[in-house]
Amino acid sequence: MPHSFGKLAFTPAVKQLQEQHGSRRQYERMESQGVPQDKLTSMEIDFLQQRDSFYWATTGSNGWPYLQHRGGPKGFLKVIDDHTLAFADFSGNKQYISTGNLQTDDRVALIFVDYPRQARLKILGHARAVEGDEAREWITRTKDTHYPARIDRVFVIQIEAYDWNCPQHITPRYTEQEIQKTMEPIRIQIQKLESENESLREEIARLRSK
Ligand SMILES: Cc1cc2nc3c(=O)[nH]c(=O)nc-3n(C[C@H](O)[C@H](O)[C@H](O)COP(=O)(O)O)c2cc1C
Repeated sequence: MPHSFGKLAFTPAVKQLQEQHGSRRQYERMESQGVPQDKLTSMEIDFLQQRDSFYWATTGSNGWPYLQHRGGPKGFLKVIDDHTLAFADFSGNKQYISTGNLQTDDRVALIFVDYPRQARLKILGHARAVEGDEAREWITRTKDTHYPARIDRVFVIQIEAYDWNCPQHITPRYTEQEIQKTMEPIRIQIQKLESENESLREEIARLRSK
């Protein structure tokens, strides 16, 4: 069923605060007239396929929220279709907090951040851990052949709603690979200058020795 993000996130207490601080009317419009925000467009799909990490939250049977970081090679989170995501659960510390939490509450919240572009996307959905025989097909769909991690299970997420955040307070950060790419022309220039310098030193030494 299509939901706007606000329909799920704006609880009575949230709405009351929006009312109190003058933003309720704007968000009411977003809830009633906004795009459904449950089907990814090419913009969200491109964004998700470029990510190498995200954070996701589950809730324990005791009501405590739990946040975990997930990382992998760029694009390890697979967009199966416009409302389904999947990613491989790599072997880890054997705490199984996220996996256990999903047994009693399948609702999840995810946040994806592109630090260089200062963009972030929040997703709400239902997740299930696929294991055993059923996992084989899903492992094939989510495995990155060049990444050596062992896969224990696959998480499949049905998206209920998503929302983009503003870029405020996101400090641009770059991965080693991104820095290397940016620095490549400078590295080549330094190499060229070093080589020129070396030739000039040799030339000076040769002239001095005459
Ligand atoms: C050897 C090893 C030790 C780890 N230790 C931790 C840890 O202390 N804390 C943590 O949050 N994640 C740790 N991780 C990563 C988690 O095991 C991994 O994210 C796991 O999937 C978490 O699952 P859960 O959220 O279901 O508990 C470790 C991974 C490995 C391989």
